Amino acid sequence: VIGSVALVGAGPGDPGLITVRGAHLVAQADVVVTDRLVAPELLDLARPDAEVVDVGKAPRRGPSQEAINGTLVDRARRGLRVVRLKGGDPFVFGRGGEEALALAMEGIPFEVVPGVTSAVAAPALAGIPVTHRGVAASFAVITATLAGGERNDLRRIASVVDTLVVLMAAGRLEEVCGEIGAGGRDTGEPAAVVASAGTPDQRVVVSTLGTLPERAAGAAIEAPATLVVGPVVGLSAILGWGGRVTDGVSVVSRGQAPAHD
Ligand SMILES: C[S@@+](CC[C@H](N)C(=O)[O-])C[C@H]1O[C@@H](n2cnc3c(N)ncnc32)[C@H](O)[C@@H]1O
Repeated sequence: VIGSVALVGAGPGDPGLITVRGAHLVAQADVVVTDRLVAPELLDLARPDAEVVDVGKAPRRGPSQEAINGTLVDRARRGLRVVRLKGGDPFVFGRGGEEALALAMEGIPFEVVPGVTSAVAAPALAGIPVTHRGVAASFAVITATLAGGERNDLRRIASVVDTLVVLMAAGRLEEVCGEIGAGGRDTGEPAAVVASAGTPDQRVVVSTLGTLPERAAGAAIEAPATLVVGPVVGLSAILGWGGRVTDGVSVVSRGQAPAHD
């Protein structure tokens, strides 16, 4: 008998943000193949006798994509139920599409369980709605870097949407914000970077497109971090909990959600 593979989105940071279906599949799996940005607590859901394969110790240090695909195919061919846990959503800059293609080519039954993507959740956890009536009616999710190291065309995209969400930009904020400005965005526009969203280490720097790189460097912001540019960022002053934004610029910790009574 042939096994199966589920490509499961683990959500960003907070282990509570996996879907019910994703958690159910992890609990049933014979094998869990996990990634760097997956909350470690999610592995506690796995059976004690499940095999756990960690393929994402550090960026560009883990096994190749071909080796990961090979592990999925090999375990499924042995008749095992495999869960491939991926940070956020498997199909948002997660190479989930490549894994699904490899499984399809090998005739391995598979399913995809979508996840909460950091592209929307990281802004949300900082009090930034990516759309807001009368403020932003469109958003784009962009990677700062393409496979092979080429640059994405940020200028073109910057000019056509209201809210820009840029992933994988933490080490290159100056260049990325510069490109967005060169695409016609006002350097005075609100911009924020949200690091380690959904974890106890979450940090948010709110500033303007022109000054954010310097502020983020001053706050020693590191990956994983999500950059958001657009007028919706201004809403974080009211909707972001755990800290006030003063003078348009501040470092905000996650803190506690306001009590509802
Ligand atoms: C390779 S991409 C994978 C995205 C993932 N598939 C998703 O849907 O969230 C990794 C990037 O996602 C963003 N990211 C992932 N987890 C994050 C978190 N907890 N807080 C902020 N950004 C995060 C960062 O921009 C990071 O460089």
